[in-house]
Amino acid sequence: MRGPLRVNTGPEVAVQIDGVAFVGRTGEPLIDVINRAQIELAQVCYHPQLGPIQTCDTCAVEINGVVGRACGTPVTAGLTVRTQTQAARLAQRDAYDRIVSNHDLYCTVCDNNNGNCTVHNTLSLLGVDHPTRPFQPKGLAQDHSNAFYRYDPDQCILCGRCVEACQNVQVNETLSINWEAEQPRVQWDGGKPIGESSCVSCGHCITVCPCNALMEKSMLGEAGLLTALPKPVFEAAIDLVKGVEHSSGLQLIMNVSDVEAETRSASIQKTKTVCTYCGVGCSFEIWTKDRHILKVEPGPGPANGISTCVKGKFGWEYVNSGDRLTTPLIRENGRFREASWDEALDLIAWRLGEIKGQHGPDALAFIASSKATNEEAYLVQKFARQVIGTNNVDNCSRYCQSPATQGLMRTVGYGGDSGTIHDIENARLVITVGSNTAESHPVLATRVKRAHKLGRTQLVVVDIREHELARRADTFLRPRPGTDFVWLSALSRLILDNGWADDAFLQTRVNGLEEFRASVDAFTLAYAEAETGLAAAEIEALARQIVAAGQDKTKGGVCILWAMGVTQQCGGSETSTAISNLLLITGNYGRTGTGAYPLRGHNNVQGASDMGAMPDQVSGYQKVADPLTVQTHEREWGVTLRPERGLDNTQMIDAAIAGNLKALWLTGEEMSLTDANANHLEKGYEALEFMVVQDLYFTHTARYADVVLPAASALEKEGTFTSTERRVQRLYEAMPPLKGTRPDWQIYTAVAERMGQSWGYTHPAEIMAEIARVTPIMAGVSYDRLQGFDSLCWPVAEDGTDTPLLYVDRFNFPDGKARLYPAQYQPRQHTPDAEFDLHLNSGRMLEHFHEGNMTFRVAGLAASVPDTFVEISPELAAERQITNGQWVRLISPNGAVKVQAHITGRVSGHEVYVPMNARHAEDAVNRLTGNNRDTVTNTPAYKDTAVRLEVLPEGGPNPLPKGNSRYGHPTPQTGVEVERKWARPDYVFPGGLLPMLGDSLNARSDRLGGDD
Ligand code: SF4
Ligand code: SF4
Ligand code: SF4
Ligand code: FES
Repeated sequence: MRGPLRVNTGPEVAVQIDGVAFVGRTGEPLIDVINRAQIELAQVCYHPQLGPIQTCDTCAVEINGVVGRACGTPVTAGLTVRTQTQAARLAQRDAYDRIVSNHDLYCTVCDNNNGNCTVHNTLSLLGVDHPTRPFQPKGLAQDHSNAFYRYDPDQCILCGRCVEACQNVQVNETLSINWEAEQPRVQWDGGKPIGESSCVSCGHCITVCPCNALMEKSMLGEAGLLTALPKPVFEAAIDLVKGVEHSSGLQLIMNVSDVEAETRSASIQKTKTVCTYCGVGCSFEIWTKDRHILKVEPGPGPANGISTCVKGKFGWEYVNSGDRLTTPLIRENGRFREASWDEALDLIAWRLGEIKGQHGPDALAFIASSKATNEEAYLVQKFARQVIGTNNVDNCSRYCQSPATQGLMRTVGYGGDSGTIHDIENARLVITVGSNTAESHPVLATRVKRAHKLGRTQLVVVDIREHELARRADTFLRPRPGTDFVWLSALSRLILDNGWADDAFLQTRVNGLEEFRASVDAFTLAYAEAETGLAAAEIEALARQIVAAGQDKTKGGVCILWAMGVTQQCGGSETSTAISNLLLITGNYGRTGTGAYPLRGHNNVQGASDMGAMPDQVSGYQKVADPLTVQTHEREWGVTLRPERGLDNTQMIDAAIAGNLKALWLTGEEMSLTDANANHLEKGYEALEFMVVQDLYFTHTARYADVVLPAASALEKEGTFTSTERRVQRLYEAMPPLKGTRPDWQIYTAVAERMGQSWGYTHPAEIMAEIARVTPIMAGVSYDRLQGFDSLCWPVAEDGTDTPLLYVDRFNFPDGKARLYPAQYQPRQHTPDAEFDLHLNSGRMLEHFHEGNMTFRVAGLAASVPDTFVEISPELAAERQITNGQWVRLISPNGAVKVQAHITGRVSGHEVYVPMNARHAEDAVNRLTGNNRDTVTNTPAYKDTAVRLEVLPEGGPNPLPKGNSRYGHPTPQTGVEVERKWARPDYVFPGGLLPMLGDSLNARSDRLGGDD
């Protein structure tokens, strides 16, 4: 299934189309049956991922003898359809003529003339030569006010695809069409310039636009052979074409433009890739001309379909940033000098070997990158274990996701999401906890927002900050920071005490009820109310809602999504366990619309752990001490795995300061800004004898290195990423590595060779074949099975059968039963006090990823959010007399940062919020965070930080500049609202026939329901 979920359809029935019988499903759009039958039919406004919006009328066919829209007619038993009768043809032509009266066909000099322009292709399909309605310029100006795209009303055919995508797929609700205006057009926030609207630049509208009315700026003047003409020449060229067209007809002109399109296609490369930002796993084609990125074109991606967020659609300039590293650097006498690859690699091999010889293998440690591929993460841990002989290897899931993995391993047996994004869409109740989903996992959030808007799911958001999803939720609960464990346990106790638990599920599929029941005994409603600040009635209402949503086992139930608000606490593992326990007692596992979804942050943070870049497990979560695992690896690697746990990220720094760790090789991780307590971390780096950093840029962390290696970016290599859905997807090389850089896998292979292990890999496919051999959950993964947009969700059996939905029949324990785990409350350590009186929260923003090393190199993103800042509540601002833009100093026991204030109701009272992205290392929020950690996994308790605030005298502009989408005013509506077009006095159904067949689908507002 690709793209957003469509309405369920009924039983199969027979439909006669052009005299042949086909099978359809009652309720599905007739056009889907026609398309499956591969009968050519014009359909300009229809997009399978949007559903019927019925604005263009080009799909007119005769249905039971009456002409109507094929897209707007739901299938019923016994339909007789004829697509090419004279009346149908007349209506199709008339509808198309109306379209081209709104659209100047200058295809040969159009950047959208790439073989996939729907308006162009429909002209050929209908054989139109002389349109009856000439093009009428609308006299409306183009809008170039957005950094990434422009709108040209003169080319807009008013199909409304963009409106539908914005209203009901992205659900940003920015776009509408003013159907009642004399000259309708697409509007942003009801008539604002794009750059002053609520548009988040996700790109959905541009992706679905069937012509050049909405275009990526990176395409303009770049895609075609003749499209970079200066404006006067361009206009003269159009006039020339028009002149010829009058005498020769359109087909001849179209033939010329088809030849031009064919010629340009030779210079445009379209490469399937996977987004390198968050863990949603959006995949798409990226169009390039040499190193110029023309555009990102989503469509068939299994996780995202037509969807992207601003980073996936437009955030690629970082690849061509002028400050990419292009030569290895070696530190000499305190300064870096350029070196050849051979010299740098020789030095690394020699120093690692020397330190191992002097201090033993455990004096070395390795950190894999969650931005690099699975194959590369696998090689990092192979290098540590096989070449060096240490288990000192980890990845950045230590900073966010390890507690969630721990909670799931304890209870259900796999450390990953229970199902896919489609399974979340099927839930009757979605609960998010400590997750700013709309900004951190934007495309996944669109599916939650859509299901909620269409009335399919209820939404409960539990968070301390009022972000977008919180504003949309049916219920928004704001507990005290760090107390999620308490209300979750109180819910479980209440449900068990009242006999509301799913007894049948517990009896047949779950162990450990009694012990668990005892463990939640102390969590009465009264205690929960006192500890969390939530009212007992709110907790009880939520318990009833969960029980009600999970009751009908033939439908979806409850999905719980959580992120760093839960995991970056002293009790992150315990709270993650409590979430899973709650799902188990209510029977919310094992069917679509249920389950646990710890939303993975980085594009491949799931994969980095899956691949064994962890101190106690090799790939596939196999324990290093497990005899069978030892045996497999002895056979494959020729060494015996050491059984004892190695150092994790945080322990590595402690060991360096203690003098026990001497060397660290760190790949693609700006650890000095992302680990907690940055000042402590820098002491650790300084204490090392030898440090290697491998990255795209000379990062802040690289300053501490002895050797810096220039890595290739994801667009410059092949490999696979694994998304939050456990979905393994291939990326292909869109451009060769920038001169002087190398893919990470080649770098590890070259050093291993120098240290006596000849791996001999020539392509990442060979590494994946090895992974499959030693990793049972990846047994059936191969590059052949991952061609193009094909993907596999692990576990994957040897025959290639994958598992998008886990736990349907059994949980991942020997007896197949889940385990209720008696978790323990870990209260926070740093509640605000007299000296540090504010609670500090931190997290991601939509425009930036993590610390911002990639996104600050994208001009449009950097302009939208130029730097970090601190969110201050209106109450706190009034109390301390702080104004927007005022500089303040935040001070914690660990450090201080100077930032500008932004006053917003997203935070309340004495809570302040600082985004993780920082242009300058000295302002990074992790100067403030401390050394307290999750008690089970050592994940830093970033969210458990108290600070005090000093108001500084300097003022300045608001750090969130005018034009940021957060200042916009969306215009929610049920969709494109085509009924308003049909109500215009000048509208008649094309061909002069007026019947409105399919009115049951016309009433979209009924179906949408929702919150407008
Ligand atoms: S938010 Fe902006 S870019 Fe996204 S669909 Fe709406 S108008 Fe288009
Ligand atoms: S801008 Fe919107 S309404 Fe206009 S042609 Fe493109 S998708 Fe259709
Ligand atoms: S950042 Fe995440 S949501 Fe955005 S396009 Fe990339 S994978 Fe998709
Ligand atoms: S395809 Fe546009 S009305 Fe059917």
